[in-house]
Amino acid sequence: MNVTSGEAATSQPAFGSGHGWPSPLPRGTWIAACASPGLAWLGRLRHHHEASAAHAIRVTQVLMAMWACAPETLGDREALLVAALLHDIGKLAVPASILASDKRLDAAEAALVRRHPEAGAELLRGQGFAPEVVAAARHHHERWQGGGYPTGLPAARLPSLARAVAVADAFVAMVEPGRAYRQPITVASALAEIDACSGTHFDPRFAAILAACLARPSPAIGAALALDGDEWAMPPRTIPQGPQDA
Ligand SMILES: [Fe+2]
Repeated sequence: MNVTSGEAATSQPAFGSGHGWPSPLPRGTWIAACASPGLAWLGRLRHHHEASAAHAIRVTQVLMAMWACAPETLGDREALLVAALLHDIGKLAVPASILASDKRLDAAEAALVRRHPEAGAELLRGQGFAPEVVAAARHHHERWQGGGYPTGLPAARLPSLARAVAVADAFVAMVEPGRAYRQPITVASALAEIDACSGTHFDPRFAAILAACLARPSPAIGAALALDGDEWAMPPRTIPQGPQDA
């Protein structure tokens, strides 16, 4: 099981730019993002630890693509956008030296990193962000059957926005470059990991939407994740439909 999202990304070069910064969001998405107070906080995160902000952009790109595949299930697009951009904002509370460390973290350092969901939720709540955005920051490391953090509750009892972010966050963490302790894996391998953990770690609906979304060519996602043509050649999946819960 290789699903360890959002932990200690480094600031090493990424993708073709060599600057660790993914390609821009689609134009319409940036227009919405620029109108959001969330962008200022993302700027602060970029200043604190650029790789964490780049990761947030990639997660946002994946979630916007998922929304385009299944808007009824993903729900309000603007809430999803802000939640995606700011899901790791709590890393502002983690020293940049820890986030950028290329050494194995000791117990105290790891505990600081694992506090980022609660730190982010506290920050966003204090700034008046919507409750679902706060919840996504707090619960994006929870698991479908429980045992994640910070609460360990089964994710089915938590807001669905957090479960959607959890799937995209884990997927991006597996495929993006710049991780201190492991090389990125292929999109196909990452989707296989997500599929293997669907129903245990991940909400099966969002795992299926991710697979279906990446079965279709998307220039924005392809550029962000440095995909080549072969990685789009995956069998299409059925997108599950149903009312949004929680
Ligand atoms: Fe995180």
